[in-house]
Amino acid sequence: MTISKSFGEYRGRTVLITGGLGFIGSNLAHRLVEAGEVEVILLDALLPDQGGNAFNVEPLRGRVKVHHADMRDDSVMNHLVGGVDYIFNLAGSVSHLDSMTFPQRDLELNCQAQLALLEACRSFNPHVKIVFTSTRQVYGKPLYLPLDEQHRVSPLDINGINKLAAEYYHLLYQRVYGMRAVCLRLTNTYGPRQLLRHDRQGFIPWFIRAALTGGEIELFGDGRQKRDMNYVDDVVEALLLAGADESCEGEILNLGGDEPVMLSELAAELISITGRGTVRSTPFPTERQLIDIGNCYSSYKKINTALGWRPRTPLREGLRRTVEFYREHGRYYLAQDERTFS
Ligand SMILES: NC(=O)c1ccc[n+]([C@@H]2O[C@H](COP(=O)([O-])OP(=O)(O)OC[C@H]3O[C@@H](n4cnc5c(N)ncnc54)[C@H](O)[C@@H]3O)[C@@H](O)[C@H]2O)c1
Repeated sequence: MTISKSFGEYRGRTVLITGGLGFIGSNLAHRLVEAGEVEVILLDALLPDQGGNAFNVEPLRGRVKVHHADMRDDSVMNHLVGGVDYIFNLAGSVSHLDSMTFPQRDLELNCQAQLALLEACRSFNPHVKIVFTSTRQVYGKPLYLPLDEQHRVSPLDINGINKLAAEYYHLLYQRVYGMRAVCLRLTNTYGPRQLLRHDRQGFIPWFIRAALTGGEIELFGDGRQKRDMNYVDDVVEALLLAGADESCEGEILNLGGDEPVMLSELAAELISITGRGTVRSTPFPTERQLIDIGNCYSSYKKINTALGWRPRTPLREGLRRTVEFYREHGRYYLAQDERTFS
């Protein structure tokens, strides 16, 4: 695993990761701990139906501090943020579909909780560096591709609207209170330690699960929708680079993949890697069709120019590593009554 060239910035510092038991947060924690000499604090409420999983940080036991608490709880946040040098703010709700079913809940997790963190910082650590993970879903249906940061924002679902508001909260606290915030708009991210129990947190883990169980990978419509994807190690690298750099404070930066891939191609790749699974085309379920954005992929030119970031992991290699992880640890990511993948 490569170590960020900016990693020296983190030596001897204290880093708080909100959503630290989730998919991306725990991978970030692993990277920071492996590099050494960083005090890592994780905050996570292990909310039901989200990607938080104690197993994600089991190998880090004794080397990170874990706070099982909710970011909406002012008293916890006021206590936690003081003395922290960097906050990677990853706690939030990811599911676009769930946001349409439970809009108030999405509002609480993606807006109210974010304000609680920012308010705690304003009072107890006003100049802290915060890296916020947003989503390229804020653009809505693309007017042109690849999406750059100049593309108009017009989210098509509640989650996209609330994540956009949260971006603006971070940038407002930057402008008005001197906080040092940067927002990354992530694209579909995949890799080890991602939730597999249900299909509402992204299609990639669900495809992986179907292939590993020798089941059917369901393609909605003709499966020709093009998407870009980032392997989680590359996303972690972007987070670390953005955290360590001062020139991007107050900015929004897209992440993105090198080559967009049709969903049918992704399915074929997974079947080839696992040697299992089949594909089935099925009509788009209405609730998904209504919030579908069609072909969608982002340009990462801005972050490449500013920080030198680009995705390094080829899709097949990233999928191979992910499959290997779940073959070994799959039982921790399935419901108790489900079998392992082996
Ligand atoms: N995974 C992706 O493909 C993707 C794409 C775009 C954006 N993002 C963003 O990246 C961030 C991390 O995503 P992920 O895939 O790791 O999600 P995840 O569900 O695996 O992790 C999120 C974690 O945050 C925790 N959490 C949520 N609200 C909380 C609160 N109020 N207090 C304490 N803990 C709370 C959950 O328990 C969970 O463990 C999210 O903000 C998401 O919107 C992810």
